Amino acid sequence: MQLLFLYFLITCLCDFADANLQDITSGDPPYNICTNSNNYATDSPFENNLYNLLGVLSLNTSVTKFSSFYTGDNSDRVYGLYMCFNYNYTTYVDCKNCIATTASQHIVRYCPNEKEAIVWEDSCLLHYSSEDFFGKLDVKGNIPKANSQNVSDPERYRSVVNRSLSTLSKQAAYNPVNNMSATGVESFTKTETLYALVQCTRDLSGDDCSSCLQTATREILSCCYFLRGARVHSRSCFLRYELYDFVNGASESSVSSGNQAKGKGKCMPQFQHKNLLK
Ligand SMILES: *[C@@H]1O[C@H](CO)[C@@H](O)[C@H](O)[C@H]1NC(C)=O
Ligand SMILES: *[C@@H]1O[C@H](CO)[C@@H](O)[C@H](O)[C@H]1NC(C)=O
Ligand SMILES: *[C@@H]1O[C@H](CO)[C@@H](O)[C@H](O)[C@H]1NC(C)=O
Ligand SMILES: *[C@@H]1O[C@H](CO)[C@@H](O)[C@H](O)[C@H]1NC(C)=O
Ligand SMILES: *[C@@H]1O[C@H](CO)[C@@H](O)[C@H](O)[C@H]1NC(C)=O
Repeated sequence: MQLLFLYFLITCLCDFADANLQDITSGDPPYNICTNSNNYATDSPFENNLYNLLGVLSLNTSVTKFSSFYTGDNSDRVYGLYMCFNYNYTTYVDCKNCIATTASQHIVRYCPNEKEAIVWEDSCLLHYSSEDFFGKLDVKGNIPKANSQNVSDPERYRSVVNRSLSTLSKQAAYNPVNNMSATGVESFTKTETLYALVQCTRDLSGDDCSSCLQTATREILSCCYFLRGARVHSRSCFLRYELYDFVNGASESSVSSGNQAKGKGKCMPQFQHKNLLK
């Protein structure tokens, strides 16, 4: 029996420096990077180890929002880690759903037979590789996403965002009780309040965490300081800020109505249809 599957392969490997602002304002998760460097064969020991790894990592989502693990020997070894974004409402059940159900399925579907892949979902990231990447800062190919609406006072917003992210980055990087994440609130105008979350993968050193968040902050502010909210998806860290309380689960529609303009441009996620015969 043949079953036809249609699925979307989402790639947004844009050159960040060239990205014009519309390029990065739309497209929902998942985002993924398949490194396309090496392949594993179907039914190989590497594939077995990968599925085993995804299973073991998924189990730990019931007790921790970050975990790393490797399994297998020599060229069949697979390293992997996940991080669930530490929103104040994120439970271990949410973490499990994101990793065990969503991200694990997406990572093998979008990057079939790849020896390294990363996927970012709405509330988690999952990364595996045949190379040992634990403890290594990696800010290549960061994926920025921004809200398409402008703020009222962009120059001031830039400095408020910068100051807030910088304070939070220090808390995340250098205060061990924070598990490498921090959230904060800062007033922007009389009626608008900035909410922010920063987080690093917990295999990093404090200095590397700080450096990851600084890079992400610099990148997002250089393109998008005049936009109301943004996220940076990096392999080593995640940051997000908005003018609504997403940290506690508020959604944008609860504070401002109106459709978000959807941008079109060279860095838009490309949806490619693929036929899979099984
Ligand atoms: C840090 O993570 C551990 C489990 O990995 C958890 O028990 C603890 O509550 C976390 N602390 C904070 C401040 O999130
Ligand atoms: C799962 O979490 C526990 C508690 O944090 C830890 O001791 C164990 O090493 C973790 N296992 C994996 C595979 O990450
Ligand atoms: C938003 O702000 C940017 C930078 O100030 C400006 O170039 C752009 O035209 C503005 N867009 C809108 C819709 O006002
Ligand atoms: C952000 O603040 C740092 C100092 O904390 C400063 O060096 C940097 O230029 C600022 N960046 C922006 C875009 O304002
Ligand atoms: C999230 O929860 C922590 C711990 O309860 C609290 O300190 C922090 O202020 C909260 N963040 C926001 C934005 O509400």
